[in-house]
Amino acid sequence: MIGKIVGLGSYLPSKVLTNKDLEEMVETSDEWIVERTGIRERHISDPYTESVSQMAVNAAKEAIRDAAIDPEEIDLIILASTTSNMVIPSCSCVVQRETGAKNAMCFDLNSACTGFLTAYNTAQSFIEAGHVKTALVLGSECTSNYVDWTDRGTCILFGDAAGAAVLRAQESDRKNMFVLHADGRRSDCLYAENMKQRKDPEELIPKTFFQMDGKEVFKFAVTAVPQIIKELCTKFSIDKDEVDLFVLHQANRRIIEAVSKRLDIPLEKFPMNIDRMGNTSSASVPSLLTELKKAGRLKEGTKIIASGFGAGLTWGASYIEF
Ligand SMILES: CC(C)(COP(=O)(O)OP(=O)(O)OC[C@H]1O[C@@H](n2cnc3c(N)ncnc32)[C@H](O)[C@@H]1OP(=O)(O)O)[C@@H](O)C(=O)NCCC(=O)NCCS
Repeated sequence: MIGKIVGLGSYLPSKVLTNKDLEEMVETSDEWIVERTGIRERHISDPYTESVSQMAVNAAKEAIRDAAIDPEEIDLIILASTTSNMVIPSCSCVVQRETGAKNAMCFDLNSACTGFLTAYNTAQSFIEAGHVKTALVLGSECTSNYVDWTDRGTCILFGDAAGAAVLRAQESDRKNMFVLHADGRRSDCLYAENMKQRKDPEELIPKTFFQMDGKEVFKFAVTAVPQIIKELCTKFSIDKDEVDLFVLHQANRRIIEAVSKRLDIPLEKFPMNIDRMGNTSSASVPSLLTELKKAGRLKEGTKIIASGFGAGLTWGASYIEF
């Protein structure tokens, strides 16, 4: 058994923050941001109407419609988020309640920007083991809540969004093909602490903002992503030249260009929406897949390698056939 993606959906907050807007907030320029990152604008959520769980519900409803299934058929909901608005219950339980997926077991996971791939492969393992027939997998992020809007090194990068995929068990000769890695020794490259305490909240608030060594993360990404894609191809005898699309986590255009060059694969095979979205962490891969489907670029049999990477450090790659 393997889970086939039969539905995709996404949600983007309506408020757009452009590089020009950021010029008013920190010492930066549209030219610098575009040249170093490829980002032109990002979406920022409304704290009252566009929380991680609310955005996830919207993306989930679109994915369920796209899959043309009854929500009661869903056996499992896994939601990946680094910036969840819920301590308890999990956001996946909110998604269950709001979509009517009353037969699903639900849990959230946090694997930073590798979150969607981790959730996707966890769902695939439930399907392969025969426990689940239909799964809903989501990535939803309000990164803007954890950004220090006075730090030009990080605030230019991130955006908010949610994406969702419905997986359906299908007889198959092949197993789900994936590789996931983590290196907790390098957690200081990119982190934020959850510091809601009874005492001294003012002093502790700065610790909740993303702290990042941008150069280290950049070096990690341009090395680890080509390596893990090669590892995936070797492990499962995949010919990388036969892969139609490489759907990478959208962190920085220059990272994607470097991966394309290091793998010697044309950049046209690396779709991007980073210019309009910024880095939306675990939401980036499912949002981009949704865009590709709407643009008619995902046909029956389209071969994809998806890859995510980020804080942890964590990184992963999956082979997905439509
Ligand atoms: C953050 C990032 C864009 C910075 O680009 P960079 O080329 O490494 O730039 P540097 O940090 O070396 O900074 C170069 C100069 O630009 C300045 N600078 C930094 N941010 C700036 C900004 N927003 N606008 C203008 N100047 C800026 C720096 O202060 C530095 O100035 P100095 O030379 O006078 O000290 C890049 O390191 C990056 O994308 N890293 C990966 C981050 C990432 O993807 N994180 C999430 C992973 S999931």
